[in-house]
Amino acid sequence: MKGIVVYDTSYGNTKKIAETIAETLKESGIEIDLFDVKDVKKLSGKDYNFLVLGSPTKFGTMSFAIRFFLGKVKSEEWMNKPFAAFDTENPENLENKEASAAEKISEKLRDKKMNQLLPVLKALVLGQKGPLKEGEIERTKDYARELAIKLKEKKG
Ligand SMILES: Cc1cc2nc3c(=O)[nH]c(=O)nc-3n(C[C@H](O)[C@H](O)[C@H](O)COP(=O)(O)O)c2cc1C
Repeated sequence: MKGIVVYDTSYGNTKKIAETIAETLKESGIEIDLFDVKDVKKLSGKDYNFLVLGSPTKFGTMSFAIRFFLGKVKSEEWMNKPFAAFDTENPENLENKEASAAEKISEKLRDKKMNQLLPVLKALVLGQKGPLKEGEIERTKDYARELAIKLKEKKG
């Protein structure tokens, strides 16, 4: 089983969450390619069994780069494959309080008939640039361990 973890980041917080997810999945014996979204030139569903996608929440939604990347996720190739989505958010943003990049990503991937394995992970940062709130890395590891279990169940 091989998956791809793709993230966007401006200040490095979303990258840390992506790295933690990738490392934890690898520790569970799952093969992972980890990419900054800017480095994904071509994406083929044939190469991967599942997708994990993450973005900083910007103005209540995903970044432009992640929105563009979603255009490369072709339903014909990814249909029925599992996915999980995560974001980072700064809860001090009073506008767009309920909005989440990860929820929006999930909607788009469900529209492509992909299979959401877990509720989204929303990691909190302190201030616009971070750092991550204390405990978020541990919470991310727990999330990724649960994801690994779900992926293995799917595989049977
Ligand atoms: C232009 C801009 C808009 C933002 N809008 C939101 C928002 O609507 N809601 C939110 O919770 N955080 C918002 N944030 C905070 C970002 O989510 C935070 O900067 C990001 O999670 C940091 O991730 P990164 O270090 O990977 O770039 C915004 C930040 C910037 C710079």
